[in-house]
Amino acid sequence: MGLIGSLYRSSVGKKSFMAASGLLLSLFLLTHLIGNSISFLGREAYNAYAEKLHSLGGLVYIFELGLLALFLVHIITGILLYFENLRARPARYAVNSCEGGRSWGSRTMPYTGVIILIFIIVHLMNFHFTDKSVPVSDLVRNLLSRPGLGLFYIFSLVAVALHLSHGVWSLFQSIGINHAKYNQLLLKGALVFSIVVGAVFILVPLLALVSRSFLL
Ligand code: HEM
Repeated sequence: MGLIGSLYRSSVGKKSFMAASGLLLSLFLLTHLIGNSISFLGREAYNAYAEKLHSLGGLVYIFELGLLALFLVHIITGILLYFENLRARPARYAVNSCEGGRSWGSRTMPYTGVIILIFIIVHLMNFHFTDKSVPVSDLVRNLLSRPGLGLFYIFSLVAVALHLSHGVWSLFQSIGINHAKYNQLLLKGALVFSIVVGAVFILVPLLALVSRSFLL
Protein backbone atom coordinates (compact mmCIF):
# COMPACT_ATOMS: atom_id res chain seq x y z
CA MET A 1 0.00 0.00 0.00
CA GLY A 2 2.94 2.31 0.83
CA LEU A 3 4.27 2.40 -2.73
CA ILE A 4 0.80 2.68 -4.31
CA GLY A 5 -0.12 5.40 -1.78
CA SER A 6 2.94 7.52 -2.48
CA LEU A 7 2.51 7.00 -6.26
CA TYR A 8 -1.11 8.13 -5.96
CA ARG A 9 -0.10 11.29 -4.09
CA SER A 10 1.88 12.60 -7.10
CA SER A 11 0.25 14.10 -10.19
CA VAL A 12 2.13 11.76 -12.52
CA GLY A 13 1.05 8.80 -10.36
CA LYS A 14 -2.59 9.87 -10.54
CA LYS A 15 -2.30 10.11 -14.33
CA SER A 16 -1.03 6.51 -14.39
CA PHE A 17 -4.08 5.40 -12.35
CA MET A 18 -6.28 7.35 -14.77
CA ALA A 19 -4.58 5.70 -17.75
CA ALA A 20 -4.71 2.14 -16.35
CA SER A 21 -8.36 2.39 -15.25
CA GLY A 22 -9.25 4.15 -18.54
CA LEU A 23 -7.59 1.39 -20.55
CA LEU A 24 -9.45 -1.37 -18.69
CA LEU A 25 -12.76 0.54 -18.94
CA SER A 26 -12.20 0.99 -22.70
CA LEU A 27 -11.64 -2.78 -23.00
CA PHE A 28 -14.92 -3.35 -21.13
CA LEU A 29 -16.63 -0.88 -23.48
CA LEU A 30 -15.26 -2.72 -26.50
CA THR A 31 -16.55 -6.10 -25.28
CA HIS A 32 -19.91 -4.49 -24.37
CA LEU A 33 -20.05 -3.03 -27.86
CA ILE A 34 -19.42 -6.44 -29.45
CA GLY A 35 -22.12 -7.92 -27.18
CA ASN A 36 -24.58 -5.17 -28.15
CA SER A 37 -23.80 -5.70 -31.85
CA ILE A 38 -25.28 -9.20 -31.53
CA SER A 39 -28.65 -7.40 -31.31
CA PHE A 40 -28.25 -6.63 -35.04
CA LEU A 41 -28.47 -10.40 -35.68
CA GLY A 42 -31.96 -10.56 -34.19
CA ARG A 43 -33.71 -11.22 -30.88
CA GLU A 44 -32.88 -14.96 -30.62
CA ALA A 45 -29.15 -14.39 -30.99
CA TYR A 46 -29.20 -11.43 -28.56
CA ASN A 47 -31.23 -13.27 -25.90
CA ALA A 48 -29.05 -16.38 -26.23
CA TYR A 49 -25.96 -14.21 -25.69
CA ALA A 50 -27.48 -12.54 -22.58
CA GLU A 51 -28.53 -15.93 -21.14
CA LYS A 52 -25.04 -17.29 -21.69
CA LEU A 53 -23.63 -14.33 -19.75
CA HIS A 54 -26.08 -14.81 -16.86
CA SER A 55 -25.25 -18.54 -16.72
CA LEU A 56 -21.69 -17.60 -15.66
CA GLY A 57 -23.18 -16.88 -12.19
CA GLY A 58 -20.51 -16.09 -9.58
CA LEU A 59 -17.99 -15.00 -12.21
CA VAL A 60 -20.35 -12.21 -13.26
CA TYR A 61 -20.45 -10.85 -9.68
CA ILE A 62 -16.65 -10.83 -9.46
CA PHE A 63 -16.50 -9.06 -12.83
CA GLU A 64 -19.10 -6.49 -11.70
CA LEU A 65 -17.18 -5.75 -8.49
CA GLY A 66 -14.00 -5.24 -10.51
CA LEU A 67 -15.87 -2.95 -12.89
CA LEU A 68 -17.30 -0.92 -10.01
CA ALA A 69 -13.80 -0.54 -8.51
CA LEU A 70 -12.45 0.64 -11.89
CA PHE A 71 -15.23 3.23 -12.30
CA LEU A 72 -14.63 4.51 -8.74
CA VAL A 73 -10.84 4.81 -9.25
CA HIS A 74 -11.39 6.59 -12.59
CA ILE A 75 -14.02 9.02 -11.26
CA ILE A 76 -12.29 9.88 -7.96
CA THR A 77 -8.86 10.29 -9.60
CA GLY A 78 -10.43 12.38 -12.39
CA ILE A 79 -12.01 14.74 -9.83
CA LEU A 80 -8.73 15.04 -7.86
CA LEU A 81 -6.75 15.79 -11.05
CA TYR A 82 -9.34 18.33 -12.18
CA PHE A 83 -8.92 20.32 -8.92
CA GLU A 84 -5.12 19.95 -9.02
CA ASN A 85 -5.16 21.38 -12.56
CA LEU A 86 -7.38 24.27 -11.46
CA ARG A 87 -4.92 25.13 -8.67
CA ALA A 88 -1.97 25.05 -11.12
CA ARG A 89 -3.58 26.97 -13.99
CA PRO A 90 -0.38 28.12 -15.76
CA ALA A 91 0.86 24.52 -15.88
CA ARG A 92 -2.54 23.48 -17.20
CA TYR A 93 -2.25 25.89 -20.12
CA ALA A 94 1.23 24.62 -20.83
CA VAL A 95 -0.12 21.08 -21.04
CA ASN A 96 -3.08 22.17 -23.16
CA SER A 97 -0.90 23.84 -25.72
CA CYS A 98 0.60 20.52 -26.83
CA GLU A 99 -0.67 18.65 -29.88
CA GLY A 100 -4.06 17.07 -29.26
CA GLY A 101 -4.51 19.05 -26.05
CA ARG A 102 -6.96 21.60 -27.42
CA SER A 103 -9.53 19.44 -29.11
CA TRP A 104 -13.27 19.49 -28.39
CA GLY A 105 -12.73 16.25 -26.54
CA SER A 106 -10.16 17.74 -24.13
CA ARG A 107 -12.11 20.94 -23.44
CA THR A 108 -15.28 19.04 -22.60
CA MET A 109 -13.66 16.21 -20.56
CA PRO A 110 -15.18 17.17 -17.14
CA TYR A 111 -18.64 17.77 -18.67
CA THR A 112 -18.71 14.57 -20.73
CA GLY A 113 -17.47 12.74 -17.61
CA VAL A 114 -20.47 14.02 -15.61
CA ILE A 115 -22.89 13.14 -18.47
CA ILE A 116 -21.45 9.60 -18.60
CA LEU A 117 -21.83 9.23 -14.83
CA ILE A 118 -25.52 10.26 -15.02
CA PHE A 119 -25.94 7.96 -18.06
CA ILE A 120 -24.47 4.96 -16.21
CA ILE A 121 -26.81 5.48 -13.23
CA VAL A 122 -29.87 5.65 -15.56
CA HIS A 123 -28.49 2.75 -17.64
CA LEU A 124 -28.04 0.47 -14.61
CA MET A 125 -31.58 1.29 -13.43
CA ASN A 126 -32.82 0.39 -16.93
CA PHE A 127 -30.96 -2.85 -17.53
CA HIS A 128 -29.22 -4.05 -14.39
CA PHE A 129 -31.52 -3.41 -11.40
CA THR A 130 -34.50 -4.75 -13.25
CA ASP A 131 -36.63 -7.87 -13.70
CA LYS A 132 -34.13 -10.35 -15.16
CA SER A 133 -36.90 -12.71 -16.29
CA VAL A 134 -37.82 -10.28 -19.12
CA PRO A 135 -35.86 -11.17 -22.29
CA VAL A 136 -33.10 -8.61 -22.83
CA SER A 137 -34.32 -7.98 -26.40
CA ASP A 138 -37.74 -6.86 -25.05
CA LEU A 139 -36.10 -4.64 -22.44
CA VAL A 140 -33.88 -2.89 -25.00
CA ARG A 141 -36.64 -2.52 -27.57
CA ASN A 142 -39.32 -1.34 -25.12
CA LEU A 143 -37.11 1.17 -23.32
CA LEU A 144 -35.05 2.63 -26.15
CA SER A 145 -38.03 3.06 -28.52
CA ARG A 146 -39.37 5.69 -26.08
CA PRO A 147 -38.38 8.99 -27.71
CA GLY A 148 -37.25 10.69 -24.47
CA LEU A 149 -35.05 7.80 -23.32
CA GLY A 150 -33.85 6.89 -26.83
CA LEU A 151 -32.70 10.47 -27.44
CA PHE A 152 -31.08 10.63 -23.98
CA TYR A 153 -29.10 7.50 -24.90
CA ILE A 154 -28.00 9.01 -28.23
CA PHE A 155 -26.95 12.26 -26.52
CA SER A 156 -25.02 10.35 -23.82
CA LEU A 157 -23.33 8.10 -26.40
CA VAL A 158 -22.09 11.21 -28.25
CA ALA A 159 -20.60 12.26 -24.88
CA VAL A 160 -19.00 8.80 -24.53
CA ALA A 161 -17.42 9.19 -28.01
CA LEU A 162 -16.13 12.71 -27.22
CA HIS A 163 -14.71 11.53 -23.87
CA LEU A 164 -13.00 8.57 -25.57
CA SER A 165 -11.53 10.74 -28.35
CA HIS A 166 -9.40 12.63 -25.83
CA GLY A 167 -9.14 9.82 -23.26
CA VAL A 168 -7.52 7.36 -25.67
CA TRP A 169 -5.07 10.01 -26.89
CA SER A 170 -4.19 10.92 -23.27
CA LEU A 171 -3.73 7.25 -22.49
CA PHE A 172 -1.04 6.97 -25.17
CA GLN A 173 0.74 10.00 -23.68
CA SER A 174 0.54 8.68 -20.12
CA ILE A 175 2.05 5.32 -21.02
CA GLY A 176 4.83 7.07 -22.91
CA ILE A 177 3.72 6.45 -26.50
CA ASN A 178 4.63 9.96 -27.55
CA HIS A 179 6.77 10.82 -30.55
CA ALA A 180 6.48 13.93 -32.74
CA LYS A 181 6.60 11.69 -35.82
CA TYR A 182 3.60 9.57 -34.77
CA ASN A 183 1.49 11.95 -32.66
CA GLN A 184 -0.76 13.05 -35.53
CA LEU A 185 -1.35 9.39 -36.40
CA LEU A 186 -2.16 8.55 -32.76
CA LEU A 187 -4.52 11.52 -32.60
CA LYS A 188 -6.35 10.36 -35.74
CA GLY A 189 -6.39 6.75 -34.49
CA ALA A 190 -8.03 7.86 -31.21
CA LEU A 191 -10.57 9.91 -33.17
CA VAL A 192 -11.46 7.05 -35.55
CA PHE A 193 -11.75 4.61 -32.62
CA SER A 194 -14.11 6.92 -30.71
CA ILE A 195 -16.27 7.62 -33.79
CA VAL A 196 -16.61 3.90 -34.60
CA VAL A 197 -17.43 2.99 -30.96
CA GLY A 198 -19.94 5.89 -30.67
CA ALA A 199 -21.59 5.15 -34.04
CA VAL A 200 -22.08 1.40 -33.39
CA PHE A 201 -23.47 2.06 -29.88
CA ILE A 202 -25.82 4.76 -31.24
CA LEU A 203 -27.21 2.36 -33.87
CA VAL A 204 -29.03 0.44 -31.08
CA PRO A 205 -31.26 3.29 -29.76
CA LEU A 206 -31.53 4.68 -33.31
CA LEU A 207 -32.89 1.38 -34.67
CA ALA A 208 -35.18 1.03 -31.64
CA LEU A 209 -36.57 4.50 -32.41
CA VAL A 210 -37.00 4.23 -36.19
CA SER A 211 -37.20 0.55 -37.17
CA ARG A 212 -40.49 -1.34 -36.88
CA SER A 213 -38.81 -4.75 -36.89
CA PHE A 214 -35.68 -4.26 -34.72
CA LEU A 215 -35.51 -7.01 -32.03
CA LEU A 216 -39.08 -8.19 -32.79
C1 HEM B 1 -26.82 1.50 -26.94
C2 HEM B 1 -26.03 1.43 -25.92
C3 HEM B 1 -26.11 0.37 -24.85
C4 HEM B 1 -26.98 -0.68 -24.69
C5 HEM B 1 -28.16 -1.09 -25.56
C6 HEM B 1 -26.58 -1.38 -23.50
C7 HEM B 1 -27.21 -2.51 -22.99
C8 HEM B 1 -26.93 -3.10 -21.78
C9 HEM B 1 -27.62 -4.23 -21.22
C10 HEM B 1 -28.77 -4.96 -21.89
C11 HEM B 1 -27.05 -4.52 -20.03
C12 HEM B 1 -27.45 -5.63 -19.05
C13 HEM B 1 -26.71 -6.88 -19.36
C14 HEM B 1 -27.31 -8.03 -18.60
O1 HEM B 1 -27.15 -8.08 -17.37
O2 HEM B 1 -27.97 -8.82 -19.24
C15 HEM B 1 -25.99 -3.55 -19.81
C16 HEM B 1 -25.19 -3.51 -18.70
C17 HEM B 1 -24.23 -2.53 -18.48
N1 HEM B 1 -23.86 -1.53 -19.32
FE1 HEM B 1 -24.64 -1.15 -21.14
N2 HEM B 1 -25.48 -0.75 -22.95
C18 HEM B 1 -25.17 0.34 -23.75
C19 HEM B 1 -24.13 1.24 -23.57
C20 HEM B 1 -23.33 1.29 -22.47
C21 HEM B 1 -22.27 2.25 -22.25
C22 HEM B 1 -21.87 3.33 -23.25
C23 HEM B 1 -21.72 1.98 -21.03
C24 HEM B 1 -20.59 2.67 -20.31
C25 HEM B 1 -20.23 3.91 -20.51
C26 HEM B 1 -22.43 0.86 -20.48
C27 HEM B 1 -22.19 0.30 -19.25
C28 HEM B 1 -22.85 -0.79 -18.73
C29 HEM B 1 -22.56 -1.36 -17.43
C30 HEM B 1 -21.50 -0.86 -16.44
C31 HEM B 1 -23.42 -2.46 -17.27
C32 HEM B 1 -23.50 -3.42 -16.08
C33 HEM B 1 -22.60 -4.60 -16.37
C34 HEM B 1 -23.02 -5.79 -15.57
O3 HEM B 1 -24.10 -5.82 -15.03
O4 HEM B 1 -22.22 -6.72 -15.51
N3 HEM B 1 -23.39 0.46 -21.37
N4 HEM B 1 -25.94 -2.71 -20.90
